[in-house]
Amino acid sequence: LFTGIYISMSFSQNYDESKVPFYTLPSLLVSGQNQPIKDTASWEHARRPELLTLFSNYVYGTTPKDFDSVRFGIENEDPAAMNGKARLKEVAIRVYRQNKSITFHLVLFTPTAQASPAAVFVLINNRGRSHTDPKRVVQSDFWPAEMMIDSGYGIAAFHVSELAPDRKDSYADALLQLYPEQLAADNGMKAIGAWAFGASRVMDYLVTDGHVNAKQVVIVGHSRGGKTALWAAAQDERFSLCISNCSGNTGAALARRQFGERIAKINATFPHWFCNNYKRFNDNETALPVDQHMLIALIAPRPVYATNATEDLWADPKGTFLALKNAEPAYALYHKKSNLPADPPSPGHAILYAPLGYHNRIGVHDMTRFDWIQFIQFARHHFRS
Ligand code: GCU
Repeated sequence: LFTGIYISMSFSQNYDESKVPFYTLPSLLVSGQNQPIKDTASWEHARRPELLTLFSNYVYGTTPKDFDSVRFGIENEDPAAMNGKARLKEVAIRVYRQNKSITFHLVLFTPTAQASPAAVFVLINNRGRSHTDPKRVVQSDFWPAEMMIDSGYGIAAFHVSELAPDRKDSYADALLQLYPEQLAADNGMKAIGAWAFGASRVMDYLVTDGHVNAKQVVIVGHSRGGKTALWAAAQDERFSLCISNCSGNTGAALARRQFGERIAKINATFPHWFCNNYKRFNDNETALPVDQHMLIALIAPRPVYATNATEDLWADPKGTFLALKNAEPAYALYHKKSNLPADPPSPGHAILYAPLGYHNRIGVHDMTRFDWIQFIQFARHHFRS
């Protein structure tokens, strides 16, 4: 019986482009009341809030805005980290609500070579904590802090487990303890919502740090962290640039293509990521009132860079590129010319000089030095212009 189930599930994953069903994406620039959206005013006041509500109610769950306070404590500081090249701060971020609180930690390095506040990349760390080692005993390519500092950028990270452990039996053990009503609601946030909430509290801290240029904060995530980065940037306009690395299903890839991972599969394997309502779309992608191009569009006019890897068909490289392409009309409202080609660029070739950037790295599901080098170029271009 077990084998039977396994086989039927694995058959439902399609990797054949010719078997992608015919699909029509929900219209980005037509409101729920069937009104055409022709300018930034109607986008910002009508369509954008409407889409945020749809993603909240049906996909990621609602993000609570009511907390009593957020407080910051510097737990460790080293003005001469990385042989004097960087300032290190380890910050405890404490969120209070109704006599309860949770604490999570931010690691932040800013370059000492420049006097002015630095642009900062914030990684949502969904891997082992050692990848973002403040002591720099471990120097992981997943978070190449030295390279970022040498390039003139600040580099920061927080670990997802302090907001919501990434497990179906314990995801509610951290931030969700403050919000029991979220656990009870079918549109309540779960782990990914909690991680995105954490990203915004990091932003609350960064605006207070004199070494940080709060107008140039990049939110970066890989895979499940890349899904979170998009959701965080969609909601919180203080993130001025978003990088979503190999984020795949319910990240930057279009659901309606039903290529690689699908909604039924992600909900079965990770029932603690999205709200309960999302399960209604198991094997029923066409019923979704949104698709992922709309999530990217919510970030407009701020630049978004999405990536894939050639050996990571699970995350649907073509579907990711097409989501960017289909987000272009929102950028056009702001006169941000994107002009992505109709088809993805060849593997290893990066599209950097447009508000919607993309590359498909040759290799496997990962975030590497190659990826970070493109992120630097992309940010450098957009922060300059
Ligand atoms: C799994 C999951 C993906 C996710 C990935 C990751 O493969 O199915 O949706 O992106 O893990 O986070 O590495």
